[in-house]
Amino acid sequence: MTAPGPLGGEMLKNLRNIVSDPLTYLETVWHEHGDVVQFPVPKPATYLVSSPAGAREVLVNQHKETSKKTLQYNNLSLVTGDGLLTADTQAWRPRRRMLQPAFHQEMVALSQTHVEFGLAKLEIHWRELTAAGPTIIDIDQAMMSLALEITCGALFGVDIESEVDEITAATLTALHGVVARARNPLALPLMVPTPANLKMKRAIKKLDKAVTLIIAARAANQLPLDAPIRDMLDVLLDPDLETPLSKQQIRDEIVTFIVAGHETVASALTWAWYLLVTNPSEMKKLQEHPERAKLVLAEALRLYPPAWVITRRTLSEFTVEGFTIPANSLVIVSPWLVHRNQKAWEQPLQFLPERFETGAPQLGYIPFGAGARLCIGRDMAVLEGSMILAQLAQHWNIEAIHNSQVPVDASVTLRPVGGMPVRISRKV
Ligand code: HEM
Repeated sequence: MTAPGPLGGEMLKNLRNIVSDPLTYLETVWHEHGDVVQFPVPKPATYLVSSPAGAREVLVNQHKETSKKTLQYNNLSLVTGDGLLTADTQAWRPRRRMLQPAFHQEMVALSQTHVEFGLAKLEIHWRELTAAGPTIIDIDQAMMSLALEITCGALFGVDIESEVDEITAATLTALHGVVARARNPLALPLMVPTPANLKMKRAIKKLDKAVTLIIAARAANQLPLDAPIRDMLDVLLDPDLETPLSKQQIRDEIVTFIVAGHETVASALTWAWYLLVTNPSEMKKLQEHPERAKLVLAEALRLYPPAWVITRRTLSEFTVEGFTIPANSLVIVSPWLVHRNQKAWEQPLQFLPERFETGAPQLGYIPFGAGARLCIGRDMAVLEGSMILAQLAQHWNIEAIHNSQVPVDASVTLRPVGGMPVRISRKV
């Protein structure tokens, strides 16, 4: 052991909590043992790093000494293949260089049109639902569908309205399978036809079907080659690339962007609504000053970071906060913990959007990761998320239906257990 941590017996005793409520378990070991914790598992040696400086050391300074070959990303790649999110360094570098231009400023600005379009459709639907008076809806489901439509419109230029429910459900089922496998050391390979594996494979097949639909829609609706703005699908399908992508590589990127691009944004928005409906004075401030939406989103991403764990495998030995992390270790950086660390945040458990009035701090704020593998969709997510919060808060009364806390399911992203029911009515 090179860092403090729980004893083997203690961890065994907590096995059930680790699986059922990993966030609370991580908080407990962090409070008991400090900012660098080693778990008593032999292989790989496993560390939890929770300080702002430690997170930076792992994700930024030691980026070249780490890889994404971890259990978390290996399981995710059963769904996304070797797309940008899970690709390891060698395959990742040229791919990032190739895809980065698709996220230029004009494209991010263009995604505004898709957000407006998606919001207009959502508001028509909400008006129908509330024609007879205030109505209870699941705002989590609404945010999933909205974010998926925006992602597919902005990145692939397609309107997938008729497929939305199927794709959001397939994404959740596939990701649920990823987490269930990560938590079960005895999970059998995906090719073994257990009920859980068959369910996951059916969901992956639906995502494959979505890819076929997206490519067919583009084939039927070619943009002129000299069109000023190329979207991501154009880049992926470009036959003039130095090394054009194979069918499998195109599939992997489309599924990666469907999954990474909508479930994260929806999770952020769902928890932002939760924080707003449970803090009515903050909701009122947002309704009166919609320009506060960016602050609200930033603070929601701090308290409920959708990507609640980021993992790396170390390629060589290095030191974090004075503790040696040997080569071939698993390092877990949890934005959930880093964002609650008093070294970076005053009153870390309070929902205080104005703390972002002077911008995010240099250290200790990592909802989009950090360093070379920083989220490629960050600017798009911030634009999309703040537009949605601002517009819906201005036009709608959105209220809590009960006072109890909504439990968090720490899946691939943070999900509300049982959805997020709220009461909506149109503002007069
Ligand atoms: C609030 C919304 C979002 C959150 C919280 C989020 C979070 C993250 C985080 C933490 C990472 C880094 C993972 C790591 O270092 O291991 C990441 C990477 C990534 N994200 Fe996002 N993301 C969001 C939205 C988006 C959107 C809208 C897209 C696509 C349009 C996207 C696509 C990706 C991709 C492809 C990567 C991998 C980048 C690379 O390794 O080069 N994300 N995201």
